[in-house]
Amino acid sequence: MSFFQSLRFKVFALIVLFFSMFLLLKFFYSYNKIQDESNRYLKSVNSSTASILSKQLVSDLYELNFTEVKFILSTFSNELIKNIIVLTEDGYIFSEKKSNKLIFKKFKNFEELEDVEKINKYLYKYPILLDTDIIGYLVIENSKELFEKELKKSISDLGFVFIAIFIIIVIISYLFSRIIVNPINKIIESISNKSDESIIEIDYKKNDELGYLARIIESNHNKILILNNDLKDKIENVTKMNNTIQKQQKTMIQQSKMVAIGEMIGNIAHQWRQPLSAISTISTGMELEKEMGVLSKESISRHSKKINENVQFLSRTLDVFQGFMKTKKRKEHINLKKIVKDSINIMKGVVSEYNIKVIYDIDDEIYIDGDSNELTQCIVNIFNNSKDAYILGKEKLFFISAKQADKKVIIEFKDNAGGISEDILPKVFEPYTTTKHQSQGTGLGLYITYTLIVDSMGGELTVRNSVYEFEESTYIGAVFKISIPC
Ligand SMILES: Nc1ncnc2c1ncn2[C@@H]1O[C@H](COP(=O)(O)OP(=O)(O)OP(=O)(O)O)[C@@H](O)[C@H]1O
Ligand SMILES: [Mg+2]
Repeated sequence: MSFFQSLRFKVFALIVLFFSMFLLLKFFYSYNKIQDESNRYLKSVNSSTASILSKQLVSDLYELNFTEVKFILSTFSNELIKNIIVLTEDGYIFSEKKSNKLIFKKFKNFEELEDVEKINKYLYKYPILLDTDIIGYLVIENSKELFEKELKKSISDLGFVFIAIFIIIVIISYLFSRIIVNPINKIIESISNKSDESIIEIDYKKNDELGYLARIIESNHNKILILNNDLKDKIENVTKMNNTIQKQQKTMIQQSKMVAIGEMIGNIAHQWRQPLSAISTISTGMELEKEMGVLSKESISRHSKKINENVQFLSRTLDVFQGFMKTKKRKEHINLKKIVKDSINIMKGVVSEYNIKVIYDIDDEIYIDGDSNELTQCIVNIFNNSKDAYILGKEKLFFISAKQADKKVIIEFKDNAGGISEDILPKVFEPYTTTKHQSQGTGLGLYITYTLIVDSMGGELTVRNSVYEFEESTYIGAVFKISIPC
């Protein structure tokens, strides 16, 4: 902070400005007063001179005694008076102090000279009275140079005094600004020298407003420090708790995955049954044909082709399962339609066993960036819940639709299993929310699904119950809506 920005300078400038204004006004007032007083003094010198002289001159002027008048004028001396002229009553010059001659001519501008009492700055006219008759005039001419020199001297003296006062004001203002601002600087120093971690003690103990302010700052800082330490402890605890929760979450996800794997093994067993029995039938058929002696080259290649097709199917099922088993997260550019169909395919056995009609409405060209395993796990969880909720003996529908809007992909899963009961609907994504028997459900399926979509994919998951028409029938079911950025 530069000196000119500092509070000290501002206080200093303010005081100097205030007193300077005052001083300036006082100066002009004194200046006018000196001028007035000088004029008044000049006037009084003139009037007393005129009054004395007129008395001395009256008889000699009446007798027109030039020599005597001249003598009286010559005896008079005052440095402020440059010349004294004696005029006749008609304004003719009778005698003049600075000239010895008898001039006797009309005084220039006699008519313009103001009446007796008025002063024309350096020319003063005064009547010479005999009783009450005016017999002449006295005109006093002042020394302009001398008068102005005196005036200038007085004014310059005044100027010096004011400059001296101004310097004193500057010094006092500076000292005053120091007195005001120093305690504030002391407080600032006490605060700024301390690190945020330590308790402060401000070295200003006076019982004035600043002392009060210092004590408030001190106590507030120390209170904040305590709160801060408290907060740090709390944050540490929360971080610890968070870590534990994250660990628990990982375990939960793993557990739920194990459950899903278990279900999938069941599915695979289901899916394998049919191709295995096909392979067995083909090989038994071949054995029979060989015994009957009808096993031709063509039938061997036809049978091996069939066996190969079935083996290929078994191998594909294993590939999908293997992919799902992988725990490492990977980022892929996935075609949504393919991943959805593959996921439902894993549960092909259940689909056919429960006779579930899966209805797709997915655009071909939707791609998302993410981990296909995670998405599969979500789809499997949502599908398994519908499977568990379907009403026995009724048509079972499972709709999957997906479209892209702006920079989002919206996927909707809808069943006709009667919807989620209203009392658990608001907390269905919370862990351990279940209506199933302990042996059937953990209540983690939708919690894991929510965590994967929101935390891992940065998307949203919502659920609602819906009443809708399909092929002229009315159904009630749960609708899960996933929205993920793409
Ligand atoms: N499609 C649905 N129709 C009706 N109820 C549902 C549906 N999906 C979920 N629910 C209800 O929500 C509850 C919570 O489902 P969630 O998948 O989280 O746990 P769960 O299926 O009970 O157990 P698991 O952890 O084995 O999946 C279920 O118990 C069920 O009552
Ligand atoms: Mg479930």
